[in-house]
Amino acid sequence: MITKPKGTVDILPGESQKWAKLEEAIRKVCKLFNYKEIRTPIFESSEVFHRDVNDTSDMVTKETYDFKDRSDRGITLRPEGTAGVARAFVENKLYVENPVSKLFYMGPMFRYERPQKGRKRQFNQFGVEALGSDSPWIDVEVIALGATIIRALGLKDVTVKINSLGDEESRNKYKDVLIKHFSQYKDCLCSDCLNRLEKNPLRILDCKVDRDKDFFKSAPKINDYLNDYSKDRFEKVLRGLDDCDLKYVIDDNLVRGLDYYSHTVFELEVNVPEFGAQNVIGAGGRYDKLISDLGGPVTPGVGMAFGVERLLMAADLSGKQLAKPDSVHAYIIALGDLAQEAALKIMNVLRIGGLSCDIDYLGGSLKSQFKKADKNNAKFTLILGENELKDKVINVKNNETDEQETIEIRDVYAYLLTKLNKPICGNKNK
Ligand code: HAM
Repeated sequence: MITKPKGTVDILPGESQKWAKLEEAIRKVCKLFNYKEIRTPIFESSEVFHRDVNDTSDMVTKETYDFKDRSDRGITLRPEGTAGVARAFVENKLYVENPVSKLFYMGPMFRYERPQKGRKRQFNQFGVEALGSDSPWIDVEVIALGATIIRALGLKDVTVKINSLGDEESRNKYKDVLIKHFSQYKDCLCSDCLNRLEKNPLRILDCKVDRDKDFFKSAPKINDYLNDYSKDRFEKVLRGLDDCDLKYVIDDNLVRGLDYYSHTVFELEVNVPEFGAQNVIGAGGRYDKLISDLGGPVTPGVGMAFGVERLLMAADLSGKQLAKPDSVHAYIIALGDLAQEAALKIMNVLRIGGLSCDIDYLGGSLKSQFKKADKNNAKFTLILGENELKDKVINVKNNETDEQETIEIRDVYAYLLTKLNKPICGNKNK
């Protein structure tokens, strides 16, 4: 038996309905905030993600699926949505038509990580990117959008953690003091952090290995090194969150795993034990150089992405029933080959007229076909045997009331519409 690759998941019927419902809820919220959908390729030229040799993020250095295509082009399966959206923004010159583009996307992402609960190699993100404005209020809008989704899914115990990485000047000042601090503990740093010390000392604060050591806790805090502009900007973001009644916790060790961030960074964490270690359901922040790094005009941006699997897991744990079990309007029990053929014609009429229906193509006994009708949560069961066929009638059972009536076959569509309280939508083909 060939099995699925490690770190991937089959989303089976039953589960896939929940995905569809979640996507529907997400689309509704995006409409409320006036974000428009963008769909970019699942694979991109490798340079879209491997832009900077000094990038220290795990995602870029260790986790991308990179390969050469048959024409020897470097290709990367997208590990996240932001860089691809930024590439599309530049390539399609979206900035010409609208000074601010508010975009959203959903789809699979790929990271070669060690699979565990809530962490897969193929997973899905829903993300938003607002490109073209450096207003602190739009940072607030992005977080508010995330909070609205959380509310729509009935999730509780979600904490918004927020921090500011300041502008380049503030970060450079802070990097210098961090290098000074951590250089004293070179012997104690893990090998990744030693590398980060040289390339991007800020990322040391993101280390899971060194996190609990004393020299880590005594490290200088970025908030003490923000210049006036960065400090004022961060205060405005926090004020905006207060204005919108959005609760948050300032976490001065929050630097995020990607190298493109400046100013606002945030993570949404679910605090329920069943979630395990991977409890960050969404995260994001501001990036002001990504668009120009990809060859576009200097354009500020801010965005966030949710892990869809983690959102669904959180919704499940909160007891939110996203999707009701599927049902059909009618299930036809047809006894014998002629009845099956006649049923095909009836189903054609019902389906064209907008009623869902099905039949057991395996035939089988009356009892087993009744069971299938039950399993499909049929609102009506239509029974057609040879005698009924001769008389051009069909037995219709209302599964809610258990009432049964015999109807002329040509009237069955109108009969069902009336019983289902649906408007007659002019199916002349009956
Ligand atoms: P990220 O924090 O790398 O940020 O990913 C966002 C979310 O994707 C995470 O919070 C998590 O819920 C989910 N996620 C990440 N990796 C996995 C995985 N292996 N399995 C399951 N879920 C996962 C970004 O990707 C940024 N592009 C977010 C952003 C948008 N920043 C600005 N705009």
